[in-house]
Amino acid sequence: MRVPIIAGNWKMNTTVSEAIKLVNEMRSRLDEITNVDKVICPPFVSLAAVGELIKGSSIKLGAQNLYFEEKGAYTGEISPLMLADLCEFVIIGHSERRQYFNETGEIINNKVRAALRAGLKPILCIGERLEENEAGRTKEVVTEQLRSSLAGIDYLSSLTIAYEPVWAIGTGKAATGEQANETISFIRHNVAKLYDKEIAQDVRILYGGSVTAENAAEFINQPEIDGALVGGASLKAPQFMRIVKQTSEIKQ
Ligand code: PGA
Repeated sequence: MRVPIIAGNWKMNTTVSEAIKLVNEMRSRLDEITNVDKVICPPFVSLAAVGELIKGSSIKLGAQNLYFEEKGAYTGEISPLMLADLCEFVIIGHSERRQYFNETGEIINNKVRAALRAGLKPILCIGERLEENEAGRTKEVVTEQLRSSLAGIDYLSSLTIAYEPVWAIGTGKAATGEQANETISFIRHNVAKLYDKEIAQDVRILYGGSVTAENAAEFINQPEIDGALVGGASLKAPQFMRIVKQTSEIKQ
C-alpha cells in the first residue's frame, strides 16, 4: 500500500509572517489526518519558522529547490546539507525551473543524486509542454525526462514522482482524471523497465496542475494516482485542508 501524499508548493509566495499565518490556519486540521502524508513547501526563507511551528505534528516540510554541491563558493545557492537540517522533502525539476532557470536533465539528475546523498526525499517533477501534448509526444517526453533525471541512480525508495503537464500548471486547465491516470500508469511502467516491478509498485506518483478542492477527487479516485502536488490552492488554507481531507477519505 502506497501512502498518499498531498504536497503544497507555495512557489515564490508569502513573506515569513504570511507563511506563519498560513500554517497557523491549517496546522491543527492537517495534523488530525494521519493516513495521508501532508507536505508543505514554503520558500527557503520561511523553512525554519514553519519548521518550528509544525514541530511535533504529523505535517512534513519540503523545500522547492536545492543546489547539488555540498558547500563552497556558490553565492546565493542552498545546499542539500543545509536543507537536510531543516526539512525532509525537496521538489526537483519543477517545470518553472526547467523553463525560467534553464535546468537541464543533467542538472536535475545531479540534484536528485545530491538530495538522496543528503537523506532528503526528492519530489521529481516531469511533464510535457502544450505543443508536445498536441503533437502526441507526451509519452516520449516523460520517458526521456524520467531516464535523464534518474540516470545512474540505483536507490529509489525515498523518491516521489509528480506528473505535471506544463499546460495544466497555473492555468486553471487541469488534465482529466483519466488522462492523468493513463500517463501515470505509463510512468510507473517505465519505472518498472528502468528498475523492477516491485520498485515501480512502491514508488508514489502524484498528479499536479490546477488541482483544487473542487477537482481533487477526480484525480485521487484514480488507482494509479497517489496524491497531488498543489500550487495555487495550497496558499488557501480551506482549499488545502479540503484536498487533504478528501484524499484521506478516498484512499482509506
Ligand atoms: P498549480 O501549480 O496547482 O497552481 O497549477 C502546480 C505546481 O506547479 O506544482
